[in-house]
Amino acid sequence: MAHLDDLISTDILGYLRAQENKSFLRFITCGSVDDGKSTLIGRLLYDSKLIYEDQLASIEKDSKKSGTQGGEMDLALLVDGLAAEREQGITIDVAYRFFSTDKRKFIVADTPGHEQYTRNMATGASTADVAILLVDSRYGVQVQTRRHAFIASLLGIKHVVVAVNKMDLNGFSQAIFNDIEVEFRNFAKDLAFLEITCIPMSALKGDNVTTKSDRSVWYKGPSLLQYLEHVNVETESLDAPFRLPVQWVNRPNLDFRGFSGTIASGVVRVGDEIEVSSSAKRSKVKSIVTYDGALKAAREDMAITLTLEDEIDISRGDIIGHTEQVSQQADQFQAHILWMSDKELYPGRQYILKTSNKSVPASVTSLKHKIDVNDLSESSAKTLELNEIGVCNLSLGAPIAFDPYNVNRNTGGFILIDRQTNATVGLGMIDFALRRSSNVVWQDMNVDRKSRAEIKGQKPVLLWFTGLSGSGKSTISNRVEKQLLDMGRHTYTLDGDNVRHGLNRDLGFTKADRIENMRRIGELSAIMVDAGLITLVAFISPYRQEREAIRNLFNEGEFIEVYVNTPLEVCEQRDVKGLYAKARRGEIKNFTGIDSEYQAPQSPEIEINTAELSSEDAALNIITYLKEKGYLHRGVE
Ligand code: ADX
Repeated sequence: MAHLDDLISTDILGYLRAQENKSFLRFITCGSVDDGKSTLIGRLLYDSKLIYEDQLASIEKDSKKSGTQGGEMDLALLVDGLAAEREQGITIDVAYRFFSTDKRKFIVADTPGHEQYTRNMATGASTADVAILLVDSRYGVQVQTRRHAFIASLLGIKHVVVAVNKMDLNGFSQAIFNDIEVEFRNFAKDLAFLEITCIPMSALKGDNVTTKSDRSVWYKGPSLLQYLEHVNVETESLDAPFRLPVQWVNRPNLDFRGFSGTIASGVVRVGDEIEVSSSAKRSKVKSIVTYDGALKAAREDMAITLTLEDEIDISRGDIIGHTEQVSQQADQFQAHILWMSDKELYPGRQYILKTSNKSVPASVTSLKHKIDVNDLSESSAKTLELNEIGVCNLSLGAPIAFDPYNVNRNTGGFILIDRQTNATVGLGMIDFALRRSSNVVWQDMNVDRKSRAEIKGQKPVLLWFTGLSGSGKSTISNRVEKQLLDMGRHTYTLDGDNVRHGLNRDLGFTKADRIENMRRIGELSAIMVDAGLITLVAFISPYRQEREAIRNLFNEGEFIEVYVNTPLEVCEQRDVKGLYAKARRGEIKNFTGIDSEYQAPQSPEIEINTAELSSEDAALNIITYLKEKGYLHRGVE
């Protein structure tokens, strides 16, 4: 290896020790190959001499053959090996590269620059301390520069370098550099950077990359590498309040009970007074145990197990902090979300929200607006698409401990996971807890579900009819209700067309609206079952995922899915309301079965095939099912 460090050959152990003691800096480079990004990274790697000799030889050869630099070494070739892999269809979302100098170790996250790669950039940025934004001095601050700056700031990067590149092409003009600096600072004043450093450079020729250039004597600042070696990101995180998100409670035997996790920020010492976010219970640190033995103190990024002086209740998902400096706890937030999936985000749909130490069901209760990453303008939105960023309110199935993201990236960030595919679909940053989450408490009532059902002498249940428009849902559910009524039962029917005249008058037939339609009906029918009623619901309710989410609102056996399975051709032939004909003529858009999907149930409790059964027989079948399963049992009958 062509490393400058003599220690490697003379004292390998000494070299390794020195490496270990050096601090780490993570940075991300943003820009495109045209801005000189690959050349810049190549130059940093080359000048820090952390390139294998054989790699170097092959680049020299390739440069002569296919490089763009007329036989001179083309450093971009070092990095662009990746481009070839991308072309082969191997997806490399973020390429991490490692290099080191005498002063520091570095991890560079290199992500593609185009807009469609926003999510990749976000992934790289979420752990970076510094962002280097490359600007081609001939073109100045571009839309892309602004987008990268915004995402870097959104993801909590506090230090940014504007690398004004290709200055050799304008004779290192101070005026051009100044204009770019003024423009960028002006744009970035609303972003949350602590510090902005602009450096004139030529990545190709090496000016101001690792050493100061004498072609820009007017520039008084550091070279890029000097900057990276000295930028102070450590004290910030160590001064931050101590946070230990508890990942698991370690209890190998009765005498030992420790709380394990990776310190998200700050420092903890033996004897410190601590408090738990969820319970406000307090104790003192008795010991700090690590893989390498006991310590007196531990700091951010270290994996530790804490033992405490007192036996207090702490579980996975809690965050331990110092007394009176604890994390918050809430189940409703405002957050920024960056959407990372081809399938859009739908408010009302249930996802899994995962923090560093807890997973809970969550849904977006309202999407306030989306932000155009190119000019920071806001616009209203019903969904978020791939790479879009929105501000929304979220409601969680259970409270989590957290800090706002701008206070602590490790305890304020989360991901959203699709319940069906298990894929990560969103990256979230918590802005603040919504006050109603602590001010609205669940009221315990004297009259409960059981007594309401008992006085009616029945077992409340929900019959959820799903199927295409015109399949016969309403007709059959009507008959079932009539028969139940004749038997002296207390019932109610919620019918799609009818509810859309009132409660859901504001909803149309887009996917987002139908999901919201289902969510509201799900909640309403849960209330009706709670009131003791045998409730019938007749909606197309085309989405499997939402029907399952609604099923989860109920106790085992309380939700009966009735699939009214009538083939599209039959529904269309009947066309009682004339809507299929209109849809075929293109007068109605998003019509279920025509140009909007219907996801049939996979294992409904009851399936009615209307081609074989009349609506009378279908109703009779359902009543029989209810009888046989004991739903209509009164104890005395
Ligand atoms: S759902 O898909 O959101 O569950 P819902 O059951 O409430 O639909 O409403 C369906 C009824 O609305 C249909 O029976 C039909 O009368 C009417 N309708 C009007 N436009 C459409 C459409 N684009 N797709 C389906 N049904 C529609």
